[in-house]
Amino acid sequence: MTASEAVVQRIQMLREEINQHNRSYYQYDAPKIPDADYDALMRELQLLETENPELISPHSPTQRVGSEPLSSFQQVEHQQPMLSLDNAFNDEEFEAFDKRVRDRLAIRDDVEYLVEPKLDGLAISLLYEQGVLVRAATRGDGKKGEEVTENVKTIGAIPLELTGQNLPETIEIRGEVFMPLPGFQKHNQQALALGEKPFANPRNAAAGSLRQLDSKITAKRPLAFYSYGMGLVEGEHLPATQKELFTVLAQWGLPVCDQVTVASGIAQCHQAYQQLEKKRALLPYEIDGVVFKVNDFALQERLGFVSRAPRWAIARKFPAQEKMTEVKAIDVQVGRTGAITPVARLAPVFVGGVTVTNVTLHNEDEMHRKDVRVGDTVIVRRAGDVIPEIVSVVQGKRKNEAKVFQMPTHCPVCGSKLERTEGEAVIRCPAGLFCRAQIKESIKHFSSRKAMDIDGLGDKIVEQVVSLALVKTPADLYYLTQEQWSGLDRMAEKSANNILAALEKSKSTTLAKFLYALGIREVGEVTAASLAAHFGQLDAIQRASVNDLEEVPDVGPIVAQHIVAFFELEHNRSVISALQAVGIHWPNVETAAQADRPLKGKVFVLTGTLPTMTRDEAKEALEELGAKVTGSVSKKTDFVVAGEAAGSKLKKALTLGVEVLSEEGLIKLMSEASRAL
Ligand code: IVH
Repeated sequence: MTASEAVVQRIQMLREEINQHNRSYYQYDAPKIPDADYDALMRELQLLETENPELISPHSPTQRVGSEPLSSFQQVEHQQPMLSLDNAFNDEEFEAFDKRVRDRLAIRDDVEYLVEPKLDGLAISLLYEQGVLVRAATRGDGKKGEEVTENVKTIGAIPLELTGQNLPETIEIRGEVFMPLPGFQKHNQQALALGEKPFANPRNAAAGSLRQLDSKITAKRPLAFYSYGMGLVEGEHLPATQKELFTVLAQWGLPVCDQVTVASGIAQCHQAYQQLEKKRALLPYEIDGVVFKVNDFALQERLGFVSRAPRWAIARKFPAQEKMTEVKAIDVQVGRTGAITPVARLAPVFVGGVTVTNVTLHNEDEMHRKDVRVGDTVIVRRAGDVIPEIVSVVQGKRKNEAKVFQMPTHCPVCGSKLERTEGEAVIRCPAGLFCRAQIKESIKHFSSRKAMDIDGLGDKIVEQVVSLALVKTPADLYYLTQEQWSGLDRMAEKSANNILAALEKSKSTTLAKFLYALGIREVGEVTAASLAAHFGQLDAIQRASVNDLEEVPDVGPIVAQHIVAFFELEHNRSVISALQAVGIHWPNVETAAQADRPLKGKVFVLTGTLPTMTRDEAKEALEELGAKVTGSVSKKTDFVVAGEAAGSKLKKALTLGVEVLSEEGLIKLMSEASRAL
């Protein structure tokens, strides 16, 4: 039986629509529909293709899930060699490069360069024939690489088909596959929790994920791609400059980096380098330098290349974000949920813009894998927002007496025998709230800003009240008297009064904050808010079964089990009753529903430092008025509130034409909105 004309058409429409959404998402970082709607389109297409297998096409967007594992990679020859780049490590080396360019071209004037970030991933060559992706290969030795077509097809950012005008019959697109930092961090956290080896850096993560014989594994990794060049091209007239090439690549549906500028002459080049270096920490992906390419292709042609690098380009590398230092001690910390974490105390070292003195070693397996010992010299790395880490031990500097660190068998705080659950990498103290370390951490969490927001109750004070056994549960905080507070070390009468006032103020909260404050395992701010919105009442959450809980967006079986287990404990239920008995309350979620709030449906992004408010205060005030505050700017954003040192988000707002407000503008808008309440 052949498929009806209507089915053929519907499949065609769905493919086009999905491809368009892929472009909005990957190329412009501006999704036009919610993820759930996108998933529904994909499911419909998958269903139609399953029912009509004769209509499956290799470049349908459904074909990105990976295929059968390979036994080895095929070697393929690049149609045109993939070159590498010469490096310049300082201004002088860059100036020498610029001089060589001008000498060879016999020009005295400034040369125009395209300035691009040097993306820290791995180079890839994509062969498109008649606009269809037919082959993808790694760089290899530059002449021959490994064929990774199936893996590359799983990367959403890489179009399976090019779009637009003037498509060459055959073209090799060159670019970089990389793993953006948020995905890298998430992947490593998950790996550590499962006792697996995390990736040392985003570049290894990208290479390790792409070079998988099983493309289904690649499909699960959050890889991205930017194109920046081409190899062989047949059958079309091409742009005249590298800058125009970027425009054409984007028109063909290929993602390109938006941090590209033109610079003429040494002074502008130095400035462009410095600007990118400053921006580096704000970018959601890792870059390790700046690439300068002679902009004019005719000049590039005249310059040619030597051995494996072009004479028309250079990579100006950033200084290393890795430094050596010494491990002074290894301690273990007991976390809020009893997790025992080994921590290396370092001789202070300035790296990646901050002084690092402590580095987590995550867990026992990870510490042994890196074989970190007291007295060792280690390489510490800090990139972007990534938390500092020990990359490796400098074995040649190890002292003979350096002993392997043994994890304790008993909790260093309460003495309970430590446990390790099968399949988990973490060792835990099972004593829960009978362990003072866990009480301290849970009280700190309870009073933290995003939880009950008890101002003035700093870590030092919490440590004292728990050590003196004045506080065993969060509810006890509310029973301490003025005398008890002011009797603490370094506590003036005024501070005691301030704490009492803050405690009183904290009694009026929201269900979401209260839930978050309880410190249920795996229930972060977002999950707490989803639970509150879904159930509306604390009672309903306490009574909910694992199945009921799994109905909530963002709650999976494990989180659901943690929630049920939490409320099953008599101790936890009595703490909750005690907290309600001292007067902690929240508005009914239904009545506070954002239904008739004046800023309902408006989406805000906050960036930079505001002159008087913190971003959290602004967020809270906006949410109170029904607005939604998100972390990234897209076409759906209504307003971007920008303070001092606003960076990429502000730039994006300007590019997308999103209205930008100062704090003053925000306050004006909010006060007008409040009048409507
Ligand atoms: S151009 C001649 N542009 O750097 C052209 N490469 O050290 C050579 N890279 O293998 C490549 N960002 O993996 C070019 N904007 C960029 C780049 C870039 C990162 C990588 C690429 C290349 C390596 C050379």
